[in-house]
Amino acid sequence: MNSNTSSSAYKDLDPAKLPSHVAIIMDGNGRWAKKRLLNRIKGHERGSETVRAIVRACRKIGISYLTLYAFSTENWQRPRSEVTALMTLLKKFLESEQKEMLDNNIRLYAIGQIERLPKNVRQVLYKAMTLTKKNNGMILNLALSYGGRAEIVKMVKEIAIKAKDDIIDPDSITPEIISEHLYTSEIPDPDLLIRTSGEMRISNFLLWQIAYTEIYVTDTLWPDFGKDEFVRILQDYQQRERRYGKV
Ligand code: FPP
Repeated sequence: MNSNTSSSAYKDLDPAKLPSHVAIIMDGNGRWAKKRLLNRIKGHERGSETVRAIVRACRKIGISYLTLYAFSTENWQRPRSEVTALMTLLKKFLESEQKEMLDNNIRLYAIGQIERLPKNVRQVLYKAMTLTKKNNGMILNLALSYGGRAEIVKMVKEIAIKAKDDIIDPDSITPEIISEHLYTSEIPDPDLLIRTSGEMRISNFLLWQIAYTEIYVTDTLWPDFGKDEFVRILQDYQQRERRYGKV
């Protein structure tokens, strides 16, 4: 599909019914590589190209928040060579996209156990986050060394300490107070969660935040995912009726 056709596809979207926050579980890089008898790392390389394309598409369409599950707490258990390759790709992405984020008014944000990332990755991450801090066109939120259960444990510990120190009264704990103690305190809950490569699982992603999120699972492997399919998923989302448990 050429770029004219794609931009006209953007026009098929109703700007009033766009999801404000899209979250994506980017799965299938390994399978993509295996199908081609390539090393898994090649799959991650192609996967980072898809990241670039989808970030651009979101900015063009007018999505306010895009959260990408780039590395989970469980991913540390992968072979060392794969972890190193993923960290290298992440660092490259942050370095190469910094200018594009500045030019396109994109703010970089990160959630997860950032302190577990290698120092050289943390440095480029913090630099890009600081440089883009004032941008308000879109927030690109990377989930890095992220796990939903670890996030909930962190929240419970923080609230328990405040309760012990008489800063919070346990009887007055509300869902809002819980949200304020999660990594995503500055970000609204996702409206739409997309998972590529067909698995019907949440995989420890944004457990609290997706309570009322619309879910879309596509069989497409992440390296094969592109803006045309993304637009079709947004069109599908726009047909849905969100009831939040009401009639
Ligand atoms: C899942 O594929 C993907 C990941 C574990 C990491 C996602 C990383 C990228 C898309 C590239 C780097 C990220 C950025 C932000 C530049 P998988 O390996 O689990 O695939 P499989 O289930 O087919 O084995």
